[in-house]
Amino acid sequence: MRILAIETSCDETGVAVVDDGRHIVSNIVASQLAHQDTGGIVPEVAAREHLRALDGITQRALNEAGVELRAVDAVAATVGPGLVGCLLVGANYGRGLALGVGLPFIGVNHLEGHVYANWLYEDLGGSRGVASRPGAPTPEPPGGSAPPEYPPPEPDIPAVVLIVSGAHSDLVLMEGHRRFRPLGRTIDDAAGEAFDKVARLLGLGFPGGPAIERAAKDGDPAAFRLPRAALADRYDFSFSGLKTAVLRLVRALEAKGEIPVADVAASFQKAITEVLAEKTARAAAEHAVETVLLGGGVAANLALRAEIQKRIGHPLRVPPPRLCTDNGAMIGAAAFFVLRDRGTEVPVNVRSDMKLA
Ligand code: KG4
Ligand code: ZN
Repeated sequence: MRILAIETSCDETGVAVVDDGRHIVSNIVASQLAHQDTGGIVPEVAAREHLRALDGITQRALNEAGVELRAVDAVAATVGPGLVGCLLVGANYGRGLALGVGLPFIGVNHLEGHVYANWLYEDLGGSRGVASRPGAPTPEPPGGSAPPEYPPPEPDIPAVVLIVSGAHSDLVLMEGHRRFRPLGRTIDDAAGEAFDKVARLLGLGFPGGPAIERAAKDGDPAAFRLPRAALADRYDFSFSGLKTAVLRLVRALEAKGEIPVADVAASFQKAITEVLAEKTARAAAEHAVETVLLGGGVAANLALRAEIQKRIGHPLRVPPPRLCTDNGAMIGAAAFFVLRDRGTEVPVNVRSDMKLA
C-alpha cells in the first residue's frame, strides 16, 4: 500500500511517499522562512505559502520516489488540528489530486501522525527511528555490538504517548492501533509554545526549541530555581506560571546588567522537561503498557528524552528529530492505519480543533 501524503497544518509544507505506513520512500519538507521576521506564524501568510509551494514539493516527492501519481494507492492529507486556512489548502489540494486520478482520499488527524511517526523507517543510510532500552544511557547501541535490526522492530503497544509540539502537550494512552484514551493535556500553553516564548525573551530567534536546547548546553540547569506546576494527582500540564517566572527573572537580571542566557535557558529547559518527564513516567507506571512513545517537535529535545529515560523501566521510542517536527511521512504512516481500519475513503471535513480519539 503506497500513499502520497500531505502535511500543511502549520508552517511546514510536507509531502511524502510512504509504503505500508512504515517505509519512507521520499519525504520533502519545506519550512516557511517568511515567519522569521515576525517571530511567529501569521496564519494568512502561512496558507499562501503552502499554496505557492505545494505543487513543486509534491512533484519533488514523486520524482524522488520514482513514481507517478497514478501509481500510488491513495492520497492523504492532514485535516486537523491546525490553522484552518492552512489545513484547507493541503486537504483541498490532496482531494483534487485524488479525484483527478480516481484514488481514495484519506483525511488524517495530525496528532495521530505524530504518534505514527514512531512506525516509520528509511532505507539504510538514512536516519532511522531510535529505540533505546531501560538503563541504556544513550539510544544507540555501544560500538562493536550487533548492528541495529533492519527494518527496526515496531513499537509494542499498549503504550503511553507524550505528544509535545508547538500547539499541543498531550499525554495519551494508546490501547491499540487508533485507540487512544486521553490522560492529560496542557491547561494553558503548549510545551513548544513555552520554548518559543522563552527563546524570544532571550533574543534567541524562532523556532525557539532548538535555540534553547543549543544555548542550554553551555548553561547550568541549577543556576536558577524555577517553578514546576504539579497540578496534584493529575496528568494535565500548565506552563504559563513557568513562562511568567522566566519573564520576571529576565527582567530582574536585565536591571542588574547582563543576562546569563545559557544559564536561564538551561534552568528553563530543566524545569519544563522535568514536569513532562515526571507525568509521563507516572502514567507509564500506573498503566500496564509496554512502551513509552514520544512525538511532536519538542520530542526532538535530547534533555527531555534523558529525563524520561531515567524515570521509566520501559523501552522509550522517539522518532529521529526530523520526523518529530511536522512532515508528510508521519501523515502517510497514520493514513495507512486509517485505511486499514476503515477500509475506504475518509471524508475531508477540516477541523482546526480536532481531537485525538
Ligand atoms: O510538531 P511541530 O513541528 O509543530 C506543531 O505541530 O506544532 O512542533 C514545533 C515545536 C516548536 O514550538 C519548536 O520550538 C519545538 O517544536 N521544537 C523543540 C525542539 N525542536 C523543535 N523544542 C525543544 N527542543 C527541540 N530540540
Ligand atoms: Zn505537529
